[in-house]
Formats: sequence, structure tokens, C-alpha cells
Amino acid sequence: MPGHHIDSYRARVTTYEIRIAGHLDRRWTATFDGMTISRREDATTVLRGDVADQAALHGLLAQLRDTGLTLLSVAEAGDTMTAAVYERFGGPDVVHLAEVPRPHPAAGELLVRVRATTVSAADHRTRARDVPPGLLLPSSMVLGFFRPRRPVLGMDVAGDVVAAGEGVEGFAPGDAVVAMLGSRFGGHAEYAILKATDAVAAAPGSMPASEAVALVFGGITARAYLRQAAVEPGARVLVNGASGAVGTALVQLAKAAGAHVTGVSSAANHALVTSLGADRVIDYATHDFTADGSRYDVIADCVGNAPVARVQGSLEPGGAALLVAADLGALLAAPRQARRLGITVVTGPGAYRADDLEHVVALAERGAFRPVIDRTFPFEQIAEAHRLVDGGRKRGSIVVTIP
Ligand SMILES: NC(=O)c1ccc[n+]([C@@H]2O[C@H](COP(=O)([O-])OP(=O)(O)OC[C@H]3O[C@@H](n4cnc5c(N)ncnc54)[C@H](OP(=O)(O)O)[C@@H]3O)[C@@H](O)[C@H]2O)c1
Repeated sequence: MPGHHIDSYRARVTTYEIRIAGHLDRRWTATFDGMTISRREDATTVLRGDVADQAALHGLLAQLRDTGLTLLSVAEAGDTMTAAVYERFGGPDVVHLAEVPRPHPAAGELLVRVRATTVSAADHRTRARDVPPGLLLPSSMVLGFFRPRRPVLGMDVAGDVVAAGEGVEGFAPGDAVVAMLGSRFGGHAEYAILKATDAVAAAPGSMPASEAVALVFGGITARAYLRQAAVEPGARVLVNGASGAVGTALVQLAKAAGAHVTGVSSAANHALVTSLGADRVIDYATHDFTADGSRYDVIADCVGNAPVARVQGSLEPGGAALLVAADLGALLAAPRQARRLGITVVTGPGAYRADDLEHVVALAERGAFRPVIDRTFPFEQIAEAHRLVDGGRKRGSIVVTIP
């Protein structure tokens, strides 16, 4: 990517870090819209953000004086950024905002200014080490045994490319993108590095980043699983856990492929699941979908309580079981069960692919896939977002915006 693009972008904005004594009251948050506000344990508040010019900086400082708090320092932020980090596994409160080095794109990499991300079931599982039975050992090899190997969580981002390393084609500074970082994480920060070979796609033109980001985690996972099951028009698809991030995406993507879709969720979420296109809804509290004689071509389990052993009698010959959530036993049994029953068992999404994300964005652009957002939190309240995800009952995605 030509260097002058990068330099001209940098010349336009300067990132400032302003430190004040005391904790800035939350009622001022709207006044400083566009700044990341971190309330620190040392009883100071740090405001950080891009400022267009000196006049804008003076305006900002005048507003800060109005808060009545003492200004401690004003400095160009230099080569750091605010990130949500965690140094030990545990509950939502292990996550806090901190200044960390700002990454630089190497050859083949993009630097993205993150505008929005989500706290996903994967962030919860990783942070709390709450993984399905048997998977703690293999997941620890990637995520760390005693302390987190990746201190910044966040699998998905929507934001703007601000710099591109040598050899990157297809994206340039200024492009709005969405991306799936997968188990490399790093999305819960002001800036994230993407490899040009990652699942990156141009963001849908019509959607703000805070909505577009909610397409990514569920959408790309749903697409990756459905692609491996080759869903034909008219196929009967059942989605267990139809109201979560992956479930809401599976319902919509299967519907867009022409399937007849049954969604299993609590009764409280039936209106949502129906609004996404499900032809039939089942309340798991009162009805066991494996016990009513119905048969399906595809059964997707996003909960972890519908392994092949339970659903095999509900699958059509040659059907497919999609194990989105599964324990080690179910994953290990899959190849043998697939052979014995003559079915397809999909045990993972495989490597996340850009063309899958492009497919998802294209569906969103033609109104066939809408992001389902339970709640949106500002960056400074990311621990609250984690708390909500920990409940295990979110509807679609929990979005975090990074001003
Ligand atoms: N294999 C992979 O690569 C991969 C990728 C993505 C996600 N996952 C896993 O897939 C699972 C789903 O992810 P997600 O992001 O969709 O999670 P999520 O958004 O946290 O799912 C929450 C939903 O689960 C539903 N639920 C809870 N208990 C249920 C039950 N007994 N029956 C039916 N629905 C139930 C809740 O619906 P109600 O409130 O209606 O009960 C809630 O809407 C997670 O375990 C996640 O770790 C795996």
C-alpha cells in the first residue's frame, strides 16, 4: 500500500490523552462523545481520542474545566491505545481498560481503528474457562494454562482501515470493514491488527459499525457450518438455541437458502425467532423436539444438549448434524457415528473465510440477514457487557462501541 496514504491520514488527526483528578461523573459521558473515558484505580480519569486541530482541543479543555475537576496533563497519546485487558481468568471484573502499545501492521497486515466489537459466548468461555467437558486441556494450549495468553479478548470488529502493511491488496486506509479474528482475539481495543488473509470484508454500506459488527460472529459461524451441510431449497432445518448469536444467524441463513426452519428457544423468544423467518418454533421447556416423530435434514445444536446420540432418530437418511456447541465426547464420537448412520456430522467451522463473511454481508445488504442486538454498551462499561453474556441467555449479540 503506498505510504503517502498512511501519512496523509495521520496528518489529519492527533490522538490526545487528557488526565484529570477524580472520577468523571457518568452524566458527562455524552458531552465527551468520541473520547474513550477510563476511570482509573488511582482516582484519576483518562480521556483519550482523536482531536482534529488545536481549536477542537481548546474547546475540549474548556468543557473539561466546566466539570470542576482538576486537569493533570494533556499529551499526545503517542504509540499507545486503550484496550480491555485481563491478566487472570475469572468473572467479568477481571476485565478492565488499560493503556497498551498500539500495534503496527507488518507486511500483509492491516491496522484497523475499531469502532465496534461484541462480547461473545467465546469471550465468556475463554475469560471464565467455562468450556464444554473435556475441552479444557486442548483449549488451554491455545488460550493459556495459568494466565491468559491473549490479554485482549474480542473475536470480531467493525471499523476503519487506518494503515496497511506492504503487499496488502484489496483494502486501503479509509475503508470501512468487518472482520472475524477468531481465536487470535484482540478486538476489544481501539486498534486491531488483521491479516489480509483473515476473514475481512467491506462493511455493508447502509449500516453503522455498531450494527454491522453484530453480523460477524454469528453470521460467519452459521455460514461456515451450513456450507458444509449443503442445504437445498425445501430442506427441513432445526436450530436448537435459535435466539443466540449463532442461532439467530442460522435461522436467517437457512431461510435465505430456501429451507423450512424450526427454531428451538424459550417461549419468551418465540416472537423474535418467528420474526427472523422461522416457520415453526418449539419451547424446549415443554416440548422435546426429538420425541415428537418429526424429522429434519439438518439439525444444528447451538446449546450443547443435542449431540448425535440424542438427535439421530430425528434426522432424515443422509441428513446432517451441525455440532456448534459440543463436548469432547460428542466431537470424538462424530466420525464413527457419521459412518455408521450414513449422515454428515460437522464438528467445526474450519478456518474462517473472507468469502463466507462477504456472503453474510451481501445477505445483510439485501435485507435477508439482520443483526440481532440484545444491548449495546460503551467501551468503559465492557465488564457489564461480560456480566450480561455470562448469564447465558442473551438474544443475538452484545455490542460494545469504541468511540
Ligand atoms: N464451534 C465453534 O466454532 C463455535 C462458534 C461460535 C459459537 N460456538 C458455541 O456455540 C454456542 C452458541 O453460541 P452463541 O453465540 O449463539 O451463544 P449465545 O448467544 O450466548 O446463546 C444464548 C442463547 O442460548 C439459548 N439457550 C440457553 N439454553 C438453551 C436451551 N436449553 N435450549 C435452547 N436454547 C437455549 C438462550 O435462549 P433462551 O433464552 O430462549 O433459552 C440464549 O438466547 C456457545 O456454546 C458457543 O461457545 C461455537
